[in-house]
Amino acid sequence: MENFIWYNPTKMYFGKGQVSSLNKELKNYQNILFVYGGGSIKKNGLYDEVRSILKNNNKNYIELSGVEPNPKITSVREGIKLVKEHNIDLLLPVGGGSTIDCAKAIAIGAKYDGDIMDVLNKKALVEEGLPIASVLTLAATGTEMNPRSVITNWEENLKLGIGDWETDATYPKVSICDPTYTLTVPRNQTVNGIVDIMSHTLEQYFTDQEDSVLGDQFAESILKTIIDIGPKLVDDLENYKLRETMMLCGTLAWNGLLRGLLNKGDWSCHAMEHALSALYDIPHGEGLAIVTPIWMEYVSKKRNDKFKKLATNVFNISPKKYTDDELVSEGINAFKAFISKLGAPTSLAHYGITDRKTDELVEKTLLGRQKIGRYIPLASFDVKEIMERVYK
Ligand code: NZQ
Ligand code: ZN
Repeated sequence: MENFIWYNPTKMYFGKGQVSSLNKELKNYQNILFVYGGGSIKKNGLYDEVRSILKNNNKNYIELSGVEPNPKITSVREGIKLVKEHNIDLLLPVGGGSTIDCAKAIAIGAKYDGDIMDVLNKKALVEEGLPIASVLTLAATGTEMNPRSVITNWEENLKLGIGDWETDATYPKVSICDPTYTLTVPRNQTVNGIVDIMSHTLEQYFTDQEDSVLGDQFAESILKTIIDIGPKLVDDLENYKLRETMMLCGTLAWNGLLRGLLNKGDWSCHAMEHALSALYDIPHGEGLAIVTPIWMEYVSKKRNDKFKKLATNVFNISPKKYTDDELVSEGINAFKAFISKLGAPTSLAHYGITDRKTDELVEKTLLGRQKIGRYIPLASFDVKEIMERVYK
């Protein structure tokens, strides 16, 4: 195995009623920016719960509402302005990945005098951030226990990721993960979350590191758990136990442990998906559902060791019955059948998108890099081949 660093400063409170721990965790802060999305927390009662905790503890708080899915740089800038105007000392995002990611970008923007785009473009490095206490309402991104934040700049059609794994700047200091708040996530967003969690696991499973016995088996265990409970959950959205397991899968898939064990992983599908959502504003999980099977078919022709393991160990396909090529195809078909059964889209035609912008997608994927991915590095030619097929 390669040497690795695994650092994680997030204190997690997991389970029913854990939101009450905010009473204790807010003790050292007075001026709070309460960040949330388009209103789902008002429907499920969490908004009132958080507000009464803030009021009962005599905190001053300002609200930043309306953070969009695929959060926009404009919301980040608005948040940074509020932080500076009101002397905010804690960010309290309550919502899904978009809300928490927006708060992370605000956290570092608040410590930087220039425009936050400099940080997103990697022209400026900010190594400290305002503290964040997050309350998660959607199992998907893993942002609740990682330093990553993905922000979209619509003026330039760019979706950019930031967040350093080795400094505290953008990790939530505290994360409240109560599966109860995910009971209201609608079916389509639940499916998107499942696909995203599977994708995070697969992105790391497809690593260039060959001797990762524990890492491989840990990833396989997350994948098998999702294959077992995913279909049950989409048919039984208010099942607490299933929500609980899915929330754990989401956090553990992308909190840095697998990343360490599997030498960072591949991440080509995420790079390509971010280009798709930057151009067409589609949900992240749906973009992944479209691009991942195409990536699998393309890459497995060049290297197939992990695809054989995926078929055998995750989808229980007997290698004895098939040639290597057949085994790989059977595994990919099983993955495709699984995500289609959940109801995920398979092509951009699903949105009526027919105008091909393949070259732009390639450019937004590579973002100046020569190649992406570690399992099989992809150059612009390869990305173009894959992107040609997302419109089919
Ligand atoms: O805005 P509200 O009203 O809250 O509604 C949201 C939104 O419409 C709704 N929702 C959230 N919790 C709900 C709920 N509806 C009912 N009940 C609840 N309990 O769901 C919709 C989608 O929310 P969003 O936060 O956008 O979803 P998700 O958590 O999937 O986050 C997606 C964003 O995270 C980025 C993606 O690119 C995308 O921008 N990612 C972040 C990562 C990270 N920070 O590590 C990694 C990922 O790979 C990903 O790139
Ligand atoms: Zn993702």
